[in-house]
Amino acid sequence: MPGANTVVKRLTSRAEFEQFARFPYEVYADRQAWWQPDVQNEIALLSGASALSAHIHLVPFAAYVAGRMAARVSAVINFRYNEHWGERLGHLIHFEALAHHDEATRMLLDAACAWLGERAMKAARSGFAPFLDYPYAIDNYGELPSFLLRGNPGYYHCYLKNAEFETEKAQVDYTAALTPQTVECYESFVRNATAAGFVLKSWREFGYFAAVDCWTDVTNAAFDRHWGWHPVSRTEVRAIMASLSDTPIADLSMLALRRGEPVGAVFSVPDLTTLLARLQPGARLAPERGGGTRGALVNIGVLEAMRGRGVALAMAAQSFLRMARMGMRHAGYTLVLDDNWPSRHTAERLEARVTANFVTYRRTL
Ligand SMILES: CC(C)(COP(=O)(O)OP(=O)(O)OC[C@H]1O[C@@H](n2cnc3c(N)ncnc32)[C@H](O)[C@@H]1OP(=O)(O)O)[C@@H](O)C(=O)NCCC(=O)NCCS
Repeated sequence: MPGANTVVKRLTSRAEFEQFARFPYEVYADRQAWWQPDVQNEIALLSGASALSAHIHLVPFAAYVAGRMAARVSAVINFRYNEHWGERLGHLIHFEALAHHDEATRMLLDAACAWLGERAMKAARSGFAPFLDYPYAIDNYGELPSFLLRGNPGYYHCYLKNAEFETEKAQVDYTAALTPQTVECYESFVRNATAAGFVLKSWREFGYFAAVDCWTDVTNAAFDRHWGWHPVSRTEVRAIMASLSDTPIADLSMLALRRGEPVGAVFSVPDLTTLLARLQPGARLAPERGGGTRGALVNIGVLEAMRGRGVALAMAAQSFLRMARMGMRHAGYTLVLDDNWPSRHTAERLEARVTANFVTYRRTL
């Protein structure tokens, strides 16, 4: 009988949370290179003990086939998102599944959607929630994606579409080569902005912890109407960023100041593959994917009143110049909505090219 040995469970114990958090090690066991989870942080989130927990109601579910975990997902009601947008949208985050488990996965997704529906949510989104979830890859299968992004198997799309999810939004990821020509071009962007009265400072130069607060304020203002975003608090961002103060992130992340006031902010990271990615013995990454040679700009925002004056170009350029000085040969400009033309033009003026594509799904409940 179909489904007879399939059970979908809502997880509650510490041991179940740990199995849930470690499940990607099974899904991605054969990968040459992948971004392994931060198991401890994930368990904190599942247990309601994370800095984000006050803002969300999260319930993890897993499907077991013959006693073995076959798929997992967390249903989330994100109070801040719904308040900010006046919506009743639930999120399905943490989705991962083994191949050839169509029925178990369908049962899992249905159970998680039913939980959201019972709490008056009108739709479920999977693939984007600030700090919680990232979109699904639709190309470069099997390769290491940019930092933070999913390198999911291709069969996830069948699972999600069969569970009545439709593509809601699409995103692109860019990569720029740091060559003598691009470096020269970046220097001119920095010169232009400086001549126009903007001052660029790295977070370290500005004072790291004060810069983290500026990033929160500028990002909340700049992303106020950005699809998918909701305001975040200084407290939670400090908690996430505190341990990074003595890393190259402090030198690569930028602020743009006008008359001493922050008007733009960039968060960038060095190549984190050697630190955070899991590589099979002997696996080698292409230089544009990692291995010490790929930095990435993860987030960029400029206050509305200061847009169209080259501030974004200058901040990104300064960040990329620092990456080049640290020996990186490529820079990611990570994750832009297909229809975010101001950001896409910025990426293209930085000589970056689209190197990966992603989607976010939605199901009406
Ligand atoms: C995207 C963003 C950072 C651009 O900042 P900005 O300081 O206005 O950008 P710049 O002035 O440096 O312009 C960069 C390039 O993009 C172009 N551009 C900027 N805004 C544009 C717009 N609304 N339409 C078309 N092109 C635009 C500029 O003309 C410039 O190209 P050019 O030099 O060939 O003229 C800003 O619009 C923003 O903060 N948006 C909201 C947050 C966001 O979407 N962030 C990016 C998430 S991926």
